[in-house]
Amino acid sequence: MKIIGTGSAIPRREVTNDMLAEFLDTSDEWISTRTGIKSRRVLSTDEDLTQLAIQAAKEALKDAKIDASELDYILCHNVSNDFETPALACVIQGAVSAHCPSLDLNGACSGFIFTLDCANGLMKAGRAKKILIVCAEHMTKMTDWTRRESCVLFGDGAGAIIITDEGPDCEISISTTYSDALTCNARVVTTPFSQQEEKYAKLVMKGREVFKLAVQSSAHDIQEVMDKAHLTAEDVRFFLLHQANLRIVDAIKSHLDQPEEKFPHNIERRGNTSSASVPLLLDEINKQGMIKEGDILVFSAFGAGFSSGACLIRW
Ligand code: UT7
Repeated sequence: MKIIGTGSAIPRREVTNDMLAEFLDTSDEWISTRTGIKSRRVLSTDEDLTQLAIQAAKEALKDAKIDASELDYILCHNVSNDFETPALACVIQGAVSAHCPSLDLNGACSGFIFTLDCANGLMKAGRAKKILIVCAEHMTKMTDWTRRESCVLFGDGAGAIIITDEGPDCEISISTTYSDALTCNARVVTTPFSQQEEKYAKLVMKGREVFKLAVQSSAHDIQEVMDKAHLTAEDVRFFLLHQANLRIVDAIKSHLDQPEEKFPHNIERRGNTSSASVPLLLDEINKQGMIKEGDILVFSAFGAGFSSGACLIRW
């Protein structure tokens, strides 16, 4: 599996910690020290996630220098998007004029890795040669804006990649165990047959529990993919970790005993964009020309489920 193009898109509106402190009992000092976040991008009235997803997809196609008609599959990952149905992947397909099966997946914040695993399986089964993956997330729609312990963490955005089957094998490790540490119930509505109190979806998180699970699982998954590839941390050029908390990135960095420069991050400007965070970061460093042919990259992500996964690829 080889990544031949990347793209991303973020909302125009930047929301700083000080702006949040205007309506929440919080401060720039608390948020920066505990999470590393200084600001995040948030979708507002005149924009929507579909536009971001399409823009990221078009950028990735342009970067890969291929026409959408060459795509064999479009996989879009999202936790929350503009549609219950059709899949956002179908809308992207129409917008880029592709003619291939298109569907959405939901693997929470680990979704980029889970989607890579499905894409890799399709390619190994001979079902696809070129696949567009888009991770697009409107997290600020599902956060509870009265809960300071969670709403300050999230941002919106979309990241996309194009992969082909013309490349060396990648190594992927994924796992899921049930935990109620991070949940968001679906909207509850009244029907003629089910009278219930109507409720909107709200995200609830046990922060400390998620923090511990995140460090444990990310360290384990990264080690597993390096072992499978018979490589060590020294061989890896960049570790691109889910941007959930800079302290989690630091903990993994210490665990692997690798230099700071191997752990690029953008959480300070983007917040936690769920499954979009790793492809957004990948696109940033790719566009900055930081990745060279043959470099070994490790992606690692974790989130609700509890789910986690890592992927090791050669650029
Ligand atoms: O993508 C999904 C994955 N999600 C994550 O990875 C999140 C993982 N967890 C975390 O990143 C951290 O646990 C948090 C950033 C959510 C919280 O940091 P913490 O160091 O674990 O803080 P805490 O929950 O133990 O809270 C410490 C204090 C509490 O006050 P008391 O009880 O000590 O008086 C909280 O009420 O900080 C308070 N607090 C805040 N204060 C100001 C919680 N949120 C805020 C806030 N502003 N926004």
